Amino acid sequence: MTTLTILTGTTRGLGAAMAEQLAAQGEHLVTLSRKSSQALVDIAAAHGTSLTQLEVDLSDTPSVKHAASQLIALINGHSHVRFIHNAGVVKPISQSQHLTDLDAINDAFHVNITSAIFLTAHVLNSSPQATDRRVMLISSGAGRNASSGWAVYCATKAAMDRYAEAAQLDQGPRARIVSMAPGIIDTPMQETIRATSKDALPSLERFIGFKESNQLADPASVAQRLLKAIESDAFGSKIIDDIRQHHA
Ligand SMILES: NC(=O)c1ccc[n+]([C@@H]2O[C@H](COP(=O)([O-])OP(=O)(O)OC[C@H]3O[C@@H](n4cnc5c(N)ncnc54)[C@H](OP(=O)(O)O)[C@@H]3O)[C@@H](O)[C@H]2O)c1
Repeated sequence: MTTLTILTGTTRGLGAAMAEQLAAQGEHLVTLSRKSSQALVDIAAAHGTSLTQLEVDLSDTPSVKHAASQLIALINGHSHVRFIHNAGVVKPISQSQHLTDLDAINDAFHVNITSAIFLTAHVLNSSPQATDRRVMLISSGAGRNASSGWAVYCATKAAMDRYAEAAQLDQGPRARIVSMAPGIIDTPMQETIRATSKDALPSLERFIGFKESNQLADPASVAQRLLKAIESDAFGSKIIDDIRQHHA
């Protein structure tokens, strides 16, 4: 029995933490990121993990298509297949009357949800032999509760929740699909949020307060909980899920 995990967005933050832990598990890991990591190569080599790093810009259609075609051969033959879509962008952070940068809006949708839908299709379609297929889409509380300044981010993450529900209806017992909110984590994304103007993001002080009062979770411990959740028997029993509701 071999488990293949395909993970997006591994250069930093939560994705880097999950990639490091998966690279130390001695199974099979495929990363989809804009840049490969020598540190991951070293961890994988030390633990006998088979590692393939596909370089892909998830906002770029030809690049995503190429990565998807490379995935097909890599998935073949694995009985346990996991796809974790972690890559995400929080920008543009802006009041809705100023959301005039069409490229930025498109990039956010492409990275956060369009590529997730497309890659999930390839994972499902390329693994008919697999007996256990699980998809975890890293969503956000922002998809469940609106925040001023976050219209695009909220829309992409809400889309992720609804997509997960519809895709689960399609798949029935053939796959388990979960849209998982990870909580608020101390990553570069939070730095981006704190660097925004209050005009664009009226709740800016709340985010500064999370950092100052040490309320941001450690990426490594959230990564550990997410990787435990995806392997649990209960995974999939709640399609729209939140890791904070799982026991540590
Ligand atoms: N941090 C939080 O508090 C929080 C809260 C709720 C949900 N989340 C969600 O958790 C996930 C991880 O967040 P994070 O905080 O770790 O974010 P982060 O620190 O900003 O890291 C985002 C990751 O996504 C990758 N990415 C962005 N655009 C990409 C593109 N065009 N092509 C390929 N990769 C791309 C980045 O790679 P590059 O280095 O190439 O840009 C990076 O590896 C996201 O989906 C986020 O929405 C985070």
